[in-house]
Amino acid sequence: MLVLGIETSCDETGVALYDSEQGLLAHALFSQIDMHADYGGVVPELASRDHVRKLLPLCEEILQAAGRTRADIEGIAYTAGPGLIGALMVGGSVAHALGFALGIPVLGVHHMEGHLLAPMLEPEPPAFPFVALLVSGGHTQLVLVAGIGEYTLLGESVDDAAGEAFDKTAKMLGLDYPGGPRVAALAGQGTPGRYKFPRPMTDRPGLDFSFSGLKTFTLNTVARAREADDLNDQTRADIALAFETAAVDTLTIKCRRALEQTGSKRLVIAGGVSANKRLRASLETMVARLGAGVFYARPEFCTDNGAMIAYAGCQRLEAGQRDGDRILAVPRWPMNELPPINEVRIEGLRD
Ligand code: KG4
Ligand code: ZN
Repeated sequence: MLVLGIETSCDETGVALYDSEQGLLAHALFSQIDMHADYGGVVPELASRDHVRKLLPLCEEILQAAGRTRADIEGIAYTAGPGLIGALMVGGSVAHALGFALGIPVLGVHHMEGHLLAPMLEPEPPAFPFVALLVSGGHTQLVLVAGIGEYTLLGESVDDAAGEAFDKTAKMLGLDYPGGPRVAALAGQGTPGRYKFPRPMTDRPGLDFSFSGLKTFTLNTVARAREADDLNDQTRADIALAFETAAVDTLTIKCRRALEQTGSKRLVIAGGVSANKRLRASLETMVARLGAGVFYARPEFCTDNGAMIAYAGCQRLEAGQRDGDRILAVPRWPMNELPPINEVRIEGLRD
């Protein structure tokens, strides 16, 4: 089945063509980062308007790249949530209009399920079951994954998401949006050991996270350095490194606990923060000690993209799931509300 995937939940317009037999045929992404950078974060209305401008040209571009026409598409998957309501509506409207015109099934996909399954696009995908760490701008969750749509939440952040903590740290250090990759780059120049930041909620049992205390600690450290007239480039790099190391250690400790608790030998990391090199290295070392393996997508499929939506949608469309006539746009949507893959639903996922 040839599926067109559409991702417009936030500030990237992503599209892809995924074929159940031949794999990923083409994908394209337009990032709105430059447009939002002037405002220090995503401006929802500007995001929606830009998706309107970019979405159809990007679809044409990948059809051409794959040597296919619209008539070859057999199903359409779009991100139905969670995300910005206006941005979601653009993807959903285009998906439903195209699906109606072509007479093919359309399905609203959960953005985080897309992230979760992105490592399946790699040459050595993980087998079910596995433990997944979902780390994006809006989510930090540990999930036990028995199969597609079979999710048990093991733990999550009680306040900020890990990516959000990276973004806020970037702002404190005077770096542009989006902050994660910039904090990571600056941390590369840092002096190990100059600052020691806390590892929140690691000294008590449980798999929940908290990043707001780490954020406050960073804020106070920056303020003290500024007062001492010491907030130079080296100090900023040292703070970035201390923050990144603390965040990575915290995530690693919780992942180790989740593997030990479940007895799982497979850890999947997904979402924007899973592109972080220090996190990947730290998890590789940790799982090696446990005789386990860690799986992740190539960096471009860790952050938002159309390929993950095409892949996730293809699995569910092939199983017979599809939307009714309604466009689904669900700004807040817990992933455990998703049906298992073998539960056929025609009228829309939330019915
Ligand atoms: O998955 P994603 O693209 O969008 C959401 O669904 O939220 O994740 C974006 C988040 C941002 O907070 C960004 O700063 C963070 O992922 N991020 C990183 C890195 N690349 C992206 N954080 C740390 N290190 C990175 N290399
Ligand atoms: Zn995302």
